[in-house]
Amino acid sequence: MPEATIIDGRAVAARIAGDVAAEVTRLKAETLATPGLAVVLVGDNPASRLYVGGKSRKAEELGFHSVQHNLPADTSEADLLALVEVLNRDPRIHGILVQMPLPPQIDKDKVIEAILPEKDVDGFHPVNVGKLAAGLPGALVPCTPAGSLILIREVLGGDLSGKSAVVIGRSNIVGKPMAQLLLQASCTVTVAHSRTHDLAAVTREAEIVVAAAGRAEMVRGDWLRPGATVIDVGQNTIPAPEKGEGKTRLVGDVAYREARAVAGAITPVPGGVGPMTIAMLMANTLVAACRITGQPPPDFGQS
Ligand code: GUN
Repeated sequence: MPEATIIDGRAVAARIAGDVAAEVTRLKAETLATPGLAVVLVGDNPASRLYVGGKSRKAEELGFHSVQHNLPADTSEADLLALVEVLNRDPRIHGILVQMPLPPQIDKDKVIEAILPEKDVDGFHPVNVGKLAAGLPGALVPCTPAGSLILIREVLGGDLSGKSAVVIGRSNIVGKPMAQLLLQASCTVTVAHSRTHDLAAVTREAEIVVAAAGRAEMVRGDWLRPGATVIDVGQNTIPAPEKGEGKTRLVGDVAYREARAVAGAITPVPGGVGPMTIAMLMANTLVAACRITGQPPPDFGQS
Protein backbone atom coordinates (compact mmCIF):
# COMPACT_ATOMS: atom_id res chain seq x y z
CA MET A 1 0.00 0.00 0.00
CA PRO A 2 1.58 3.32 -1.01
CA GLU A 3 1.67 6.21 1.46
CA ALA A 4 -1.27 8.58 1.42
CA THR A 5 -1.49 11.64 -0.79
CA ILE A 6 -0.90 14.75 1.33
CA ILE A 7 -3.73 17.22 0.71
CA ASP A 8 -2.15 20.66 0.35
CA GLY A 9 -4.63 23.00 2.04
CA ARG A 10 -2.34 25.99 1.56
CA ALA A 11 -2.32 25.53 -2.22
CA VAL A 12 -6.09 25.06 -2.47
CA ALA A 13 -6.67 28.05 -0.16
CA ALA A 14 -4.34 30.19 -2.29
CA ARG A 15 -6.28 29.23 -5.42
CA ILE A 16 -9.58 30.21 -3.77
CA ALA A 17 -8.07 33.46 -2.47
CA GLY A 18 -6.96 34.26 -6.02
CA ASP A 19 -10.49 33.61 -7.33
CA VAL A 20 -11.96 35.77 -4.54
CA ALA A 21 -9.53 38.63 -5.29
CA ALA A 22 -10.49 38.53 -8.99
CA GLU A 23 -14.19 38.64 -8.09
CA VAL A 24 -13.60 41.52 -5.67
CA THR A 25 -11.97 43.47 -8.49
CA ARG A 26 -14.88 42.69 -10.80
CA LEU A 27 -17.49 43.65 -8.20
CA LYS A 28 -15.72 46.94 -7.50
CA ALA A 29 -15.57 47.76 -11.22
CA GLU A 30 -19.16 46.78 -12.00
CA THR A 31 -20.97 48.08 -8.93
CA LEU A 32 -18.49 50.50 -7.34
CA ALA A 33 -19.10 48.50 -4.13
CA THR A 34 -16.14 47.27 -2.08
CA PRO A 35 -17.02 44.15 -0.05
CA GLY A 36 -16.46 44.88 3.63
CA LEU A 37 -15.63 42.58 6.55
CA ALA A 38 -15.77 43.55 10.22
CA VAL A 39 -13.98 41.30 12.69
CA VAL A 40 -14.62 41.74 16.40
CA LEU A 41 -12.30 40.48 19.13
CA VAL A 42 -13.29 40.70 22.79
CA GLY A 43 -10.44 40.24 25.27
CA ASP A 44 -6.89 39.15 24.71
CA ASN A 45 -6.87 35.38 24.24
CA PRO A 46 -3.56 34.96 22.35
CA ALA A 47 -4.87 32.26 19.96
CA SER A 48 -7.95 34.36 19.14
CA ARG A 49 -5.77 37.45 18.61
CA LEU A 50 -3.66 35.49 16.15
CA TYR A 51 -6.69 34.12 14.24
CA VAL A 52 -8.40 37.51 14.08
CA GLY A 53 -5.24 39.26 12.89
CA GLY A 54 -4.88 36.65 10.13
CA LYS A 55 -8.49 37.16 9.00
CA SER A 56 -8.23 40.97 8.90
CA ARG A 57 -4.89 40.87 7.06
CA LYS A 58 -6.15 38.42 4.44
CA ALA A 59 -9.24 40.58 3.86
CA GLU A 60 -7.04 43.62 3.19
CA GLU A 61 -4.73 41.61 0.94
CA LEU A 62 -7.68 40.52 -1.24
CA GLY A 63 -8.99 44.07 -1.66
CA PHE A 64 -11.80 44.07 0.90
CA HIS A 65 -12.73 46.98 3.12
CA SER A 66 -11.49 45.46 6.38
CA VAL A 67 -12.12 46.71 9.90
CA GLN A 68 -11.15 45.16 13.20
CA HIS A 69 -12.67 46.07 16.57
CA ASN A 70 -10.64 45.11 19.62
CA LEU A 71 -12.74 45.35 22.77
CA PRO A 72 -11.51 44.89 26.35
CA ALA A 73 -12.17 41.60 28.16
CA ASP A 74 -14.64 43.31 30.54
CA THR A 75 -16.87 44.57 27.71
CA SER A 76 -20.54 44.23 28.66
CA GLU A 77 -22.98 42.19 26.61
CA ALA A 78 -25.00 45.37 25.96
CA ASP A 79 -21.95 47.15 24.54
CA LEU A 80 -21.11 44.25 22.23
CA LEU A 81 -24.73 44.01 21.06
CA ALA A 82 -24.68 47.78 20.39
CA LEU A 83 -21.57 47.38 18.23
CA VAL A 84 -23.18 44.51 16.29
CA GLU A 85 -26.18 46.78 15.68
CA VAL A 86 -23.94 49.54 14.31
CA LEU A 87 -22.26 47.02 11.98
CA ASN A 88 -25.64 45.60 10.89
CA ARG A 89 -26.65 49.10 9.77
CA ASP A 90 -23.31 50.04 8.17
CA PRO A 91 -23.67 49.80 4.37
CA ARG A 92 -19.88 49.43 3.92
CA ILE A 93 -19.94 46.18 5.96
CA HIS A 94 -21.24 42.99 4.32
CA GLY A 95 -19.75 40.43 6.70
CA ILE A 96 -19.55 40.44 10.51
CA LEU A 97 -17.47 37.95 12.50
CA VAL A 98 -17.36 37.98 16.29
CA GLN A 99 -14.49 35.74 17.35
CA MET A 100 -15.36 32.92 19.78
CA PRO A 101 -14.95 32.15 22.62
CA LEU A 102 -16.44 35.20 24.31
CA PRO A 103 -15.84 36.12 27.96
CA PRO A 104 -18.28 34.61 30.49
CA GLN A 105 -20.37 37.76 31.04
CA ILE A 106 -21.49 37.62 27.39
CA ASP A 107 -24.11 35.16 26.09
CA LYS A 108 -22.68 34.01 22.74
CA ASP A 109 -26.10 32.92 21.46
CA LYS A 110 -27.53 36.41 21.97
CA VAL A 111 -24.62 37.86 20.00
CA ILE A 112 -24.96 35.33 17.17
CA GLU A 113 -28.70 35.99 16.93
CA ALA A 114 -28.11 39.77 16.85
CA ILE A 115 -26.05 39.55 13.64
CA LEU A 116 -28.11 40.03 10.49
CA PRO A 117 -28.29 36.57 8.86
CA GLU A 118 -27.21 38.02 5.50
CA LYS A 119 -24.04 39.41 7.13
CA ASP A 120 -23.38 36.28 9.25
CA VAL A 121 -20.25 35.10 7.40
CA ASP A 122 -19.58 32.50 10.13
CA GLY A 123 -22.89 30.80 9.26
CA PHE A 124 -23.75 30.48 12.97
CA HIS A 125 -27.11 32.33 12.98
CA PRO A 126 -30.13 30.01 13.39
CA VAL A 127 -31.48 31.23 10.02
CA ASN A 128 -28.31 30.04 8.25
CA VAL A 129 -28.15 26.83 10.32
CA GLY A 130 -31.79 26.14 9.39
CA LYS A 131 -31.30 26.87 5.70
CA LEU A 132 -28.31 24.52 5.56
CA ALA A 133 -30.20 21.77 7.40
CA ALA A 134 -33.27 22.15 5.17
CA GLY A 135 -31.21 22.35 1.99
CA LEU A 136 -32.65 25.81 1.23
CA PRO A 137 -30.73 28.19 -1.02
CA GLY A 138 -29.00 31.26 0.35
CA ALA A 139 -27.37 29.83 3.47
CA LEU A 140 -24.01 31.17 4.56
CA VAL A 141 -22.13 27.97 5.47
CA PRO A 142 -19.62 27.77 8.37
CA CYS A 143 -16.10 28.25 7.01
CA THR A 144 -14.25 25.22 8.39
CA PRO A 145 -16.70 22.57 7.16
CA ALA A 146 -17.14 24.40 3.84
CA GLY A 147 -13.36 24.35 3.35
CA SER A 148 -13.16 20.71 4.44
CA LEU A 149 -15.75 19.74 1.82
CA ILE A 150 -13.70 21.42 -0.89
CA LEU A 151 -10.62 19.42 0.21
CA ILE A 152 -12.64 16.19 0.12
CA ARG A 153 -13.75 17.04 -3.42
CA GLU A 154 -10.13 17.74 -4.42
CA VAL A 155 -9.43 14.08 -3.68
CA LEU A 156 -12.68 12.31 -4.58
CA GLY A 157 -14.12 14.60 -7.25
CA GLY A 158 -17.49 16.32 -7.38
CA ASP A 159 -19.68 13.25 -6.95
CA LEU A 160 -19.60 11.96 -3.38
CA SER A 161 -22.95 10.17 -3.56
CA GLY A 162 -23.22 6.92 -1.66
CA LYS A 163 -19.88 7.30 0.09
CA SER A 164 -19.71 6.47 3.79
CA ALA A 165 -18.56 9.38 5.94
CA VAL A 166 -17.85 9.54 9.66
CA VAL A 167 -17.68 12.94 11.32
CA ILE A 168 -16.05 12.77 14.76
CA GLY A 169 -17.33 15.68 16.85
CA ARG A 170 -20.73 17.34 17.08
CA SER A 171 -19.95 21.04 17.58
CA ASN A 172 -22.11 23.74 16.04
CA ILE A 173 -19.00 25.23 14.38
CA VAL A 174 -17.70 22.08 12.67
CA GLY A 175 -19.27 18.66 13.35
CA LYS A 176 -22.96 19.39 12.80
CA PRO A 177 -22.61 21.58 9.69
CA MET A 178 -20.02 19.15 8.25
CA ALA A 179 -22.53 16.33 8.61
CA GLN A 180 -25.20 18.47 6.89
CA LEU A 181 -22.90 19.27 3.97
CA LEU A 182 -21.94 15.61 3.48
CA LEU A 183 -25.59 14.58 3.69
CA GLN A 184 -26.45 17.24 1.10
CA ALA A 185 -23.75 15.65 -1.08
CA SER A 186 -25.60 12.30 -0.72
CA CYS A 187 -23.03 10.64 1.54
CA THR A 188 -24.14 8.14 4.17
CA VAL A 189 -23.20 10.08 7.28
CA THR A 190 -22.47 8.98 10.83
CA VAL A 191 -21.85 11.62 13.48
CA ALA A 192 -19.66 10.10 16.19
CA HIS A 193 -18.57 11.77 19.41
CA SER A 194 -17.07 11.23 22.84
CA ARG A 195 -19.94 8.95 23.92
CA THR A 196 -19.90 6.76 20.81
CA HIS A 197 -19.37 3.08 21.58
CA ASP A 198 -16.31 1.61 19.86
CA LEU A 199 -15.35 4.75 17.98
CA ALA A 200 -12.48 2.89 16.32
CA ALA A 201 -14.84 0.33 14.75
CA VAL A 202 -17.26 3.05 13.63
CA THR A 203 -14.44 5.08 12.06
CA ARG A 204 -13.01 2.01 10.32
CA GLU A 205 -16.20 1.74 8.23
CA ALA A 206 -15.73 5.14 6.60
CA GLU A 207 -14.44 6.11 3.18
CA ILE A 208 -14.35 9.73 4.43
CA VAL A 209 -13.26 10.61 7.98
CA VAL A 210 -13.53 14.17 9.32
CA ALA A 211 -11.85 14.41 12.73
CA ALA A 212 -13.12 17.39 14.72
CA ALA A 213 -13.08 16.18 18.29
CA GLY A 214 -10.45 18.50 19.73
CA ARG A 215 -8.32 15.67 21.14
CA ALA A 216 -4.68 15.45 20.14
CA GLU A 217 -3.83 12.46 17.92
CA MET A 218 -6.94 10.55 19.00
CA VAL A 219 -7.56 8.84 15.65
CA ARG A 220 -4.96 6.10 15.27
CA GLY A 221 -3.76 4.43 12.10
CA ASP A 222 -5.62 1.20 12.89
CA TRP A 223 -8.90 3.14 13.19
CA LEU A 224 -8.84 3.81 9.44
CA ARG A 225 -10.13 1.86 6.49
CA PRO A 226 -7.28 1.47 3.99
CA GLY A 227 -7.52 4.17 1.34
CA ALA A 228 -9.80 6.47 3.37
CA THR A 229 -9.81 10.22 2.80
CA VAL A 230 -8.92 11.80 6.15
CA ILE A 231 -9.63 15.45 6.99
CA ASP A 232 -8.02 16.54 10.25
CA VAL A 233 -9.70 19.63 11.70
CA GLY A 234 -7.81 19.43 15.01
CA GLN A 235 -5.54 22.23 16.21
CA ASN A 236 -4.04 20.99 19.47
CA THR A 237 -1.01 22.42 21.19
CA ILE A 238 0.97 19.74 23.02
CA PRO A 239 4.26 19.85 24.97
CA ALA A 240 7.35 19.26 22.82
CA PRO A 241 10.23 18.73 25.26
CA GLU A 242 12.39 17.54 22.32
CA LYS A 243 12.32 21.18 21.06
CA GLY A 244 13.47 22.48 24.42
CA GLU A 245 12.16 23.34 27.85
CA GLY A 246 8.57 24.64 27.79
CA LYS A 247 8.25 24.37 23.97
CA THR A 248 5.07 23.17 22.29
CA ARG A 249 3.99 21.93 18.88
CA LEU A 250 0.74 21.89 16.93
CA VAL A 251 -0.87 18.52 16.19
CA GLY A 252 -4.22 17.46 14.79
CA ASP A 253 -6.83 15.01 16.04
CA VAL A 254 -5.23 12.30 13.89
CA ALA A 255 -1.97 10.46 14.65
CA TYR A 256 -0.50 11.68 11.38
CA ARG A 257 2.43 9.30 10.80
CA GLU A 258 0.37 6.21 11.53
CA ALA A 259 -2.58 7.46 9.51
CA ARG A 260 -0.46 8.35 6.49
CA ALA A 261 0.53 4.70 6.14
CA VAL A 262 -3.12 3.59 5.89
CA ALA A 263 -5.13 6.46 4.43
CA GLY A 264 -5.52 7.20 0.73
CA ALA A 265 -5.26 10.95 1.32
CA ILE A 266 -4.80 13.06 4.44
CA THR A 267 -4.59 16.72 5.46
CA PRO A 268 -1.49 17.73 7.42
CA VAL A 269 -1.58 19.94 10.54
CA PRO A 270 -0.57 22.68 10.01
CA GLY A 271 -1.19 23.34 6.32
CA GLY A 272 -4.43 21.44 5.77
CA VAL A 273 -7.82 22.66 6.94
CA GLY A 274 -6.51 25.79 8.74
CA PRO A 275 -5.73 27.88 5.63
CA MET A 276 -9.05 26.80 4.09
CA THR A 277 -11.02 28.31 6.98
CA ILE A 278 -9.70 31.80 6.24
CA ALA A 279 -10.15 31.36 2.48
CA MET A 280 -13.79 30.37 2.99
CA LEU A 281 -14.37 33.36 5.25
CA MET A 282 -13.24 35.55 2.37
CA ALA A 283 -15.47 33.62 -0.04
CA ASN A 284 -18.45 33.98 2.32
CA THR A 285 -17.86 37.72 2.68
CA LEU A 286 -17.77 38.13 -1.09
CA VAL A 287 -20.95 36.03 -1.49
CA ALA A 288 -22.66 38.15 1.21
CA ALA A 289 -21.58 41.37 -0.54
CA CYS A 290 -22.90 40.13 -3.90
CA ARG A 291 -26.27 39.18 -2.43
CA ILE A 292 -26.63 42.44 -0.49
CA THR A 293 -25.76 44.50 -3.59
CA GLY A 294 -28.02 42.44 -5.88
CA GLN A 295 -25.26 40.69 -7.86
CA PRO A 296 -25.22 36.97 -8.66
CA PRO A 297 -22.85 35.39 -6.13
CA PRO A 298 -19.94 33.25 -7.39
CA ASP A 299 -19.82 29.55 -6.44
CA PHE A 300 -16.62 28.34 -4.82
CA GLY A 301 -17.83 24.74 -4.59
CA GLN A 302 -18.49 24.98 -0.87
CA SER A 303 -21.99 23.49 -0.92
N1 GUN B 1 -13.36 30.44 17.06
C1 GUN B 1 -12.83 29.29 16.55
N2 GUN B 1 -13.26 29.10 15.29
C2 GUN B 1 -14.07 30.13 15.00
C3 GUN B 1 -14.79 30.49 13.83
O1 GUN B 1 -14.82 29.81 12.80
N3 GUN B 1 -15.50 31.65 13.92
C4 GUN B 1 -15.53 32.42 15.04
N4 GUN B 1 -16.26 33.53 15.03
N5 GUN B 1 -14.86 32.11 16.13
C5 GUN B 1 -14.13 30.97 16.11
